[in-house]
Amino acid sequence: MKNMKEVIVAPSILGVDENRVIADLPAIQEAGAKWVHIDIMDGKFVDHESGSLEVFQRLAKHHSLVNDVHIMVEKPKNYVESYVSAGANYLTFHYEACCCDHMVETVIDFIHEKGAKAGLSICPDTPVEKIIPFLKKVDLVLVMTVVPGKGGQTFMAENLEKVKKIKSIRPDVLVEVDGGVNAETAKLAVNAGVDVLVSGSYIFNGDVKERIANLLAVNK
Ligand code: DX5
Ligand code: ZN
Repeated sequence: MKNMKEVIVAPSILGVDENRVIADLPAIQEAGAKWVHIDIMDGKFVDHESGSLEVFQRLAKHHSLVNDVHIMVEKPKNYVESYVSAGANYLTFHYEACCCDHMVETVIDFIHEKGAKAGLSICPDTPVEKIIPFLKKVDLVLVMTVVPGKGGQTFMAENLEKVKKIKSIRPDVLVEVDGGVNAETAKLAVNAGVDVLVSGSYIFNGDVKERIANLLAVNK
């Protein structure tokens, strides 16, 4: 039998001009995307700097989509209060940004305490075993399918083994992939068990509505 679970599409607005995002928001919503993915980069955890609290606050006023905020930053705990107050529904930080397992737990707890869902992300180089201890606590796992830092890279399909492992341990946790997601790679991801597809270049380098529809149709 075919897997008919609902796939969530989260257009990634990294690198898209703010005014264009605002102009495209009605099309994004009409196309059936339920989330929007916001990347915050500090220029330290990753080389580039991108996104800011101010831009996020402005954008959040223009839509009622789920705000899926991905912080690629050092010291993620320092970002929790401000981003949750600004409307982050999911706040996802990197395992690699934490000094130790205790810090990972602390950040997850702090996100929950402030009232948002907690996501934990792993880079392609990080073995999935490292995050297994936290699966019982998190709401979402973001498996990076490119090295974080910029859009437009090629999907690294080998990371889907991590998705299978995570789902075998905790089937009800949301698993998201980010990086190089297009209509073809989205199929591979959903077949591996992915729930949330983040996609930037594929959606915005074409007809936004059509591209979102293509992603939503991958398991039909
Ligand atoms: C990469 C970011 C992504 C990026 C995805 O570090 O986390 O969200 O915008 O862009 P594409 O879909 O172009 O790979
Ligand atoms: Zn991202």
